[in-house]
Amino acid sequence: MTETVTGGDAAAATTDTTESEHPVSYAPSEEFVRQANAGKELYRAAEQDRLAFWAEQANRLHWHTPFEKVLDWSDAPVAKWFVGGELNVAYNCVDRHVHEGRGDQVAIHWEGEPGDSRDLTYSDLLAEVSRAANAFTDLGLVAGDRVAIYMPMVPEAIVSMLACARLGLTHSVVFAGFSSSALRSRIDDAQAKLVVTTDGQWRRGKAAPLKESVDEAVDGAESIEHVLVVRRTEIDTPWTEGRDLWWHETVGQASAEHEAQPFDSEHPLFILYTSGTTGKPKGIIHTSGGYLTQTAYTHHYVFDHKQGQDVYWCTADIGWVTGHSYIVYGPLANGATQVVYEGTPNSPDEHRHWNIVEKYGVTIYYTAPTLVRTFMKWGREIPDAHDLSSIRLLGSVGEPINPEAWRWFRDVVGGGTAPIVDTWWQTETGAIMVSPLPGVTHTKPGSAQTPLPGISAKIVDDDAKPLGPGGNGYLVLDEPWPSMLRGIWGDMERYKDTYWSRYATEGWYFAGDGARFDDDGDLWVLGRVDDVMNVSGHRISTSEVESALVSHHGVAEAAVVGASDETTGQGIVAFVILRGGVENTGDELIAELKAQVSKEISPIAKPRQITVVPELPKTRSGKIMRRLLRDVAEGRDLGDTSTLVDPAVFDAISQANAK
Ligand code: WTA
Repeated sequence: MTETVTGGDAAAATTDTTESEHPVSYAPSEEFVRQANAGKELYRAAEQDRLAFWAEQANRLHWHTPFEKVLDWSDAPVAKWFVGGELNVAYNCVDRHVHEGRGDQVAIHWEGEPGDSRDLTYSDLLAEVSRAANAFTDLGLVAGDRVAIYMPMVPEAIVSMLACARLGLTHSVVFAGFSSSALRSRIDDAQAKLVVTTDGQWRRGKAAPLKESVDEAVDGAESIEHVLVVRRTEIDTPWTEGRDLWWHETVGQASAEHEAQPFDSEHPLFILYTSGTTGKPKGIIHTSGGYLTQTAYTHHYVFDHKQGQDVYWCTADIGWVTGHSYIVYGPLANGATQVVYEGTPNSPDEHRHWNIVEKYGVTIYYTAPTLVRTFMKWGREIPDAHDLSSIRLLGSVGEPINPEAWRWFRDVVGGGTAPIVDTWWQTETGAIMVSPLPGVTHTKPGSAQTPLPGISAKIVDDDAKPLGPGGNGYLVLDEPWPSMLRGIWGDMERYKDTYWSRYATEGWYFAGDGARFDDDGDLWVLGRVDDVMNVSGHRISTSEVESALVSHHGVAEAAVVGASDETTGQGIVAFVILRGGVENTGDELIAELKAQVSKEISPIAKPRQITVVPELPKTRSGKIMRRLLRDVAEGRDLGDTSTLVDPAVFDAISQANAK
């Protein structure tokens, strides 16, 4: 039996003294339950007839042509959802709200880092998206073409995504913190014809160039026809006549009238690159009808979103899937009013997020555990200096949230009453899969708890045996879901191999996460079981960083591990062997290696620590023993090293690491 505390009444908490002095779970307040979008019947409806349940969710959308069949799984593992249906994703996210009388409602309260701000109503958004769609068409782009979007969090980034959706162009958003070489490989992989970017971006009060990285990236990129540039910082920008175009001179001059055409439910909407076990990022493909259905459905129920009342804020960047699904598509499909913030949480100071919450009366706040832990470090007196009483629901995504951070979040930001939804999902799943439902679930710190209605998940062992309470195993999804990925761009074999080969007989999707159920049947995600690290909620593969390191002329071999880190979840720790004859210049070399990783991938992939070692520990079959390196990086005693070729290697590594 779990003991529970009722929301807002912490003093009356019954305590489970065997584990800690804190309640095990928190019941929603009666007031919350009364007004909640979700009820228990949602689970029952989905259980009774899963496909009928999804059909009902799909009817949240406007279909130009109704679908004939909910799911076609005959070509598994490539699903077709809402077969025969036609829709326009941008029409659903924009036009529909104007036609239904919500044109004057603010869609986006945009807050620039330097303090400028801009409100866009749904009518404004329709005009902007229509202009961009007309301009893109004038550039010769046609449905099926790919467009790269490499932009900071400015309204034009969202407008560009929606303009692509409107025209059936497939967008590939590349996080503006990625390097030019990362951008180039994504442009090449998708054969993008257009890049949309800005002259520069604001970061902590300074304007940093961005277009320059694009110039470097597109130099010699044969697929690229144009670079479209939004003027944001007004810094000097190099220019290539004929190729480069200013947004304000093209989109700005285009007509604000544009009629959206319908596309097939399975028309590709976007590609988003994410890290896997190898060095080459995978272009995850998402399509239209199923993706929009599940993002809209989850945004409505998981965030208890009330159209016309809530002010929603998701703090992610559009460069990640959370920005795609829970800034752009889910919220806009539901006609939300949301905050979009351009900058960092400590610009100009650590009060920024709370000033924004107060300014717009934010009611739903969705962020990442790493940021919660950063707020904790800055101290509760900062949020305490503000009136955060508008907040009624909190969300967490990207990595497991530790119970201490969970409680702090609820108490300090959520006024001791706001339910927290800990949402587990992935770039590949497209939308939230496992999460409490606010108003229904008694929320439990640290646990993502329950597969959503319509979603089926299991925890299994190596032999596909389902595990009950207590057993650590692998998280699998044993039924297809509407917003599932449809493949890896240009590499369907890799798609099958990565996600579907582990449990091929059963036909289950292997998520790559370890998990367990507790005695109440609640699900706990334990982290990646592959070579993917999670740094501040960003997915980075060990081999991606290793290949960046060995691209330095001095490095012969590199091994990278994720070591636990109090703030970022994991930190990147690298061990390198130098080439013969290369001198170890100490700090100078380390700085060079860190710069190399920034340049090849992004500053977010820069190792926290790099140690030069004489040799790397390997098994007799030649595999690098990462588990042992992680032990070294986390300062643990080394276990059994008897399978090592040369156990003495370890003494040398431990010594080098301790220096
Ligand atoms: C991790 C982000 C625990 C997990 C939406 C997953 C989580 C990876 C949670 C996907 C959570 C995400 N609890 N772990 N609530 N949410 N993860 O593709 O390891 O950037 O596989 O998608 O993040 O990261 P991605």
